[in-house]
Amino acid sequence: MITCTKSGSLKGEIQVPGDKSISHRAVMFGALAKGTTRITGFLQGADCLSTISCFERMGISIENRGDEVLVHGQGMRGLKKPADVLDCGNSGTTMRLISGILSAQDFDVTLTGDASIQKRPMKRIMTPLSQMGASIRSIPGNGCAPLAICGRPLTGIHYDSPVASAQVKSSVLLAGLYAQGETSVTEPSQSRDHTERMLGLFGANIVSEGRTARIQPASELTAADIQVPGDISSAAYFIAAALMVPGSQLLIKHVGINPTRAGILAVCQAMGGDVRLLNVQDKKGEPTADLLVTHSALKGTVIEGDLIPTLIDELPVIAAMACLAEGRTIIRDAAELKVKESNRIAVMAENLSAMGAQVQETEDGLVIEGGHPLRGALIDSHDDHRIAMTFAVAALCAQGETKIQGGECVNISYPAFYSDLGRLIR
Ligand code: S3P
Repeated sequence: MITCTKSGSLKGEIQVPGDKSISHRAVMFGALAKGTTRITGFLQGADCLSTISCFERMGISIENRGDEVLVHGQGMRGLKKPADVLDCGNSGTTMRLISGILSAQDFDVTLTGDASIQKRPMKRIMTPLSQMGASIRSIPGNGCAPLAICGRPLTGIHYDSPVASAQVKSSVLLAGLYAQGETSVTEPSQSRDHTERMLGLFGANIVSEGRTARIQPASELTAADIQVPGDISSAAYFIAAALMVPGSQLLIKHVGINPTRAGILAVCQAMGGDVRLLNVQDKKGEPTADLLVTHSALKGTVIEGDLIPTLIDELPVIAAMACLAEGRTIIRDAAELKVKESNRIAVMAENLSAMGAQVQETEDGLVIEGGHPLRGALIDSHDDHRIAMTFAVAALCAQGETKIQGGECVNISYPAFYSDLGRLIR
C-alpha cells in the first residue's frame, strides 16, 4: 500500500527512465543480430527484465551493467530451445513480439506469464501468424496465454489489421524477417513505429508508408548501438503533475518525442497546458527533447481518432488532468484501453469517482466534467502500473490522504517513481 497526500509545488529537473518499447526491442533485435549490441539508457523495469530473461533462456549472453546492457547476438538462427517454459511476466510486448520470432524457429516453446497477461487477448497475433503458416495455440483454448508455439517455415502475407497495435504489427513484421517473400501490415491508424525505425538500424529492409509497414526477409542482422531516450509514457506523470499543481515548473530531460508516441503534447496544447520543447534533437532514429512544463489553467478537450494510438498509455493520467480542467473532456475511440494490464476504462471510472470526480464510463472511453475538487480515497490499482502512477499524481491535488492498493506495481515500468516524484516536491 502506498500513501500519498496533497503537495506543494513541484520544482526542478528530472530524467525519467528509458523508453520501455525501445528497450524491449533493442534486446530482441540485438539477440537476433550478429555481434554485440550496446544499449545505453536501458529501462531496468520488470517488463524489460522479462525480455532479457527469455533470451538468456534461449542461449543469448546478456551483460546487464545497469544503465548499459550488452547483448551478444548469435544471429538470426542462433536461438536455442529453452529448457523450460518462457515466462513473460506482466509484459504484453514481450509475449506478442517474441511469438512472431518463435513462430519461425526450428524448436517448440511454451510462453506464459502472470495472472494479468493470462487474461489479455492473444488471438490478435495468433490469427495473422497462423495465416503465415505458424503453429501457435492457446493452451487453455480461450485465445489467451499460455501459448504453445511449434516453429515452422513461414510465408509472407499482407495483413489488414483490425486494431491499431504496435505489438500486433511488430509480431507480424518479426515473423516476416524469416518468411518467404514480402510481409506487410496495414493498420486502421498508425501505431508506434519503433520496430520499423530500429530494425532499419540493424540492417533489415523495412519501410513504413503511413499506415502500412513492409518488410523483406533477411538473412542477417548487424549489431547496433542503441541509445534509449526517456520514456514519454513515464514523463507523462510529471507533465501532468506540473500542469496540475499550482506554482510548479519542471524540466524533464531527454524525452523521446517520436510523433507516433507524442499525442500527449498535442492534448496538453489543446487543454491550454504550457509545455515547451527545448533542445530538440533527431539523431539515431528517435527524436528527443527536454520538456519545460509550467503549471497552467487547463480546459477540457476531445481526444479521439488517429490521436488515440499516439497516447494510448497516457490516457489514464490525461483523464486525471481532465478532472481539474474547466469544462468537459471526451475520450472516445479508445476501446483498446479495456485490454491493457487492467480494464483501464472501468478502473479509471471507478477510482476517479471514488475521489469525487464527475466521470462517466462509455463503450470506448470516458466523459469527464472537470472542475470538481478531488478528495483523497482508497484506490485499487488492480496491479496496473499506469493506474498506480496516475493516482499518485491525482493525490497531489486532492484534499486528504490517498492510499493506493498494490501501488508497488510501478516496478513494471518505473521502479524509482515514488522517490523521483517525492524529490521534486517543494
Ligand atoms: C507497446 C504497444 C502498445 C502499448 C504498450 C507497448 C509496444 O500496446 O500500449 O504499452 O511496445 O509495442 P498495443 O500494441 O497493444 O497497442
